[in-house]
Amino acid sequence: MGTKRLFLVNGPNLNMLGRREPDTYGNKSLEDVVKLVEETAGESEFEITTFQSNHEGDLVDWIQRAEEEADGIILNPAAYTHTSIALRDAISAISKPVVEIHISNVHAREAFRHTSILAPVCSGQVVGFGIDGYRLATLGMIQKIESEGRNDS
Ligand code: DQA
Repeated sequence: MGTKRLFLVNGPNLNMLGRREPDTYGNKSLEDVVKLVEETAGESEFEITTFQSNHEGDLVDWIQRAEEEADGIILNPAAYTHTSIALRDAISAISKPVVEIHISNVHAREAFRHTSILAPVCSGQVVGFGIDGYRLATLGMIQKIESEGRNDS
């Protein structure tokens, strides 16, 4: 049994975490998020590969790449959550589980944030717990992968 790997994929403007609208997204940086996910995954001996992009096609490439190189994806698609059929099709095209995470409670914000084009093809969604949502998403994903592994015969 080889080491398990998760991709942590963050979409547009999340490179500005900590400096961007701190009342909504908090003061922690993307680097802090990466550390949190690495620590959480490390407790279960999962490894993390991290990617952030402001470009939709790059995010599609990384979702496709997970099919060969990862056991699951923790994905904050940011604004593409609400607009991207391309990201949805990429998630549908792979067999690996994807968990969608949002730092803010998108349902308490503008109406255009209430719909996720991606949620129906994701395994689960974590919304509104701030940066800690990344830890919860990581734990949920690990639990899912490990329980499905136990069911293999
Ligand atoms: C976000 C919510 C999105 O609506 C927004 O476009 C983001 C961040 C969040 O993490 O709360 O960029 O995904």
